[in-house]
Amino acid sequence: MEKFRQCVIVCVIIAACTCGVRTECESRGRISLLTSIHDDAPCKKLSTKGVLLYEAAKLLAEVHNNKTNTIDIDIAVFDTCGSITGALKAAMKALVSADINCLQAPHYLGIIGPDTSTNAEAVHKVTSVLKIPHIVRKASNAPYLHQLIHESDSYLVQGALKIIEKLKWKSFTLVADVEEESDDDVQNIAKKLTMAAIAKNLCVIVHDADDEEFTSHIVHIGQPDEGFFSKPVNATIIVVSEGNLEEHLSGVNTSNTILLLEDTRDELPGLEGKVERSKWWPEDTNGKYDAEELREVRWLEDAIEVYTKALDSVCKKKKCKSSMNAVDWNNVLANVLAAHNTQSQETSQSLDLSIKSKTSKLENLGSVTVKKNAAKIHWAEEDEDDEQDDAENDDVPEAFEKLISEEKGKRTGCATKEMKMLHEDEQDTTHVLVSEMDDNEWWTMVGTVSGVGVAMFVVGILAVYVVYTNIRGPVPKNKSRIDRDTSLRRAGSDRELPTSGRTARPTRGPQRRDSNRSIRSNISEKSV
Ligand SMILES: *[C@@H]1O[C@H](CO)[C@@H](O)[C@H](O)[C@H]1NC(C)=O
Ligand SMILES: *[C@@H]1O[C@H](CO)[C@@H](O)[C@H](O)[C@H]1NC(C)=O
Ligand SMILES: *[C@@H]1O[C@H](CO)[C@@H](O)[C@H](O)[C@H]1NC(C)=O
Repeated sequence: MEKFRQCVIVCVIIAACTCGVRTECESRGRISLLTSIHDDAPCKKLSTKGVLLYEAAKLLAEVHNNKTNTIDIDIAVFDTCGSITGALKAAMKALVSADINCLQAPHYLGIIGPDTSTNAEAVHKVTSVLKIPHIVRKASNAPYLHQLIHESDSYLVQGALKIIEKLKWKSFTLVADVEEESDDDVQNIAKKLTMAAIAKNLCVIVHDADDEEFTSHIVHIGQPDEGFFSKPVNATIIVVSEGNLEEHLSGVNTSNTILLLEDTRDELPGLEGKVERSKWWPEDTNGKYDAEELREVRWLEDAIEVYTKALDSVCKKKKCKSSMNAVDWNNVLANVLAAHNTQSQETSQSLDLSIKSKTSKLENLGSVTVKKNAAKIHWAEEDEDDEQDDAENDDVPEAFEKLISEEKGKRTGCATKEMKMLHEDEQDTTHVLVSEMDDNEWWTMVGTVSGVGVAMFVVGILAVYVVYTNIRGPVPKNKSRIDRDTSLRRAGSDRELPTSGRTARPTRGPQRRDSNRSIRSNISEKSV
């Protein structure tokens, strides 16, 4: 608390000192990005994501300035070092470097970040005095903190499940490299996929990093390592990624068939190179570019777009030469952001599906679109002259058809053993921060899912038993009174009224077993 007060006082002093001195404000709109380029309090440990965002911000500003015909923007990046103190320092630096006399639009547009809501709230205590807007990831009811909705990664999970379903797989090996501490995105996707697959009654074998054994069905999350494709033999591997991996996979020499499922959207041209040659990396080393963090870049891109859109709308109405009222600017921004958030909720996501069999090149098979948790595959037309069935093309391409497996229902040692393996695996990496789901939540989910399975099984047996006794033996009077209103009892009383709509209900002894069996299967189908 003391710290915030000090900050406010400092701000006021800075403002007072420079008050009255008319300075010429820059003609570009300045945006400050507060992000953790280092993510530890001593500010030593570089964050892959931070470097990516730094380079992306610089590149996005350049791209915007190349095509705009109104006002150029300038993005200054300040390192929060992942701590509250760091975030406050970064905010102060941002304000000072922007010139306190020019903190209004169109000269100063606002702040993006900081990353976490705690840090954002802390920084906001200072910046709200100056009525400076922030665009942040998490919802908040502070007047100058605006939430820009962060895209979820569940479309990748939905897309992958759709392909697995289409391939008729009953089990698969899940490979997700979580050696890197920062790979919480990959881990999140892997967890979500595991849960969703278990819920769909699939067997998931979570691959152990030291294990050299693979099944013939593999799902790999994220970009595979160089040597990965030489380990499994004659397997079908689905590679699921947010990034564009065509280049990385097209040259691979492997005995496996690779199905690549990746985000359709192009990444920023030149970003990968810029990140790898970033000034932040220690000398003589090439940095790591993580394609699975591209959703972060897209979020940043959207945030910048919201600022520039708001700026354009202001400039359209009147000449944006003079400074605007801070509250007006905040309102304009809030409106643009609200429109953007509604729109992004409604758009569907799209994934490209391509195939690479042993010797051939990567070929496009079609795409998978995911809208509100419903995934749909659109196969690419194989022949242009095939005009008749344009509306619903169910023509599965030949290359894909070949992969559809007639898997034998072998599910030995599935759920529990591999769950344990995953658990052991995670013991080594408990320090990995999983942002969207913590371990407890995850195990609770697993427990619930398996619990539901057991419960359904028991209910099913009970139902069958009740029907069985109702139909077979004489029904005791008192029991029938209890059961009168249940649907199970109704199935029984149907039998007593042969004219109730159904055709010629068998009443003879020998056939009774058949009707009995059909009801049994009805019930058990329903309950499973
Ligand atoms: C912007 O324009 C300059 C000059 O035309 C060009 O050198 C630069 O590559 C462009 N940058 C981007 C990101 O398009
Ligand atoms: C992989 O496939 C090739 C060609 O179909 C076959 O000759 C080879 O024996 C297979 N290898 C294994 C380990 O199944
Ligand atoms: C691919 O690998 C196999 C065996 O390792 C080798 O015989 C073949 O020449 C390689 N093909 C190419 C195009 O590198």
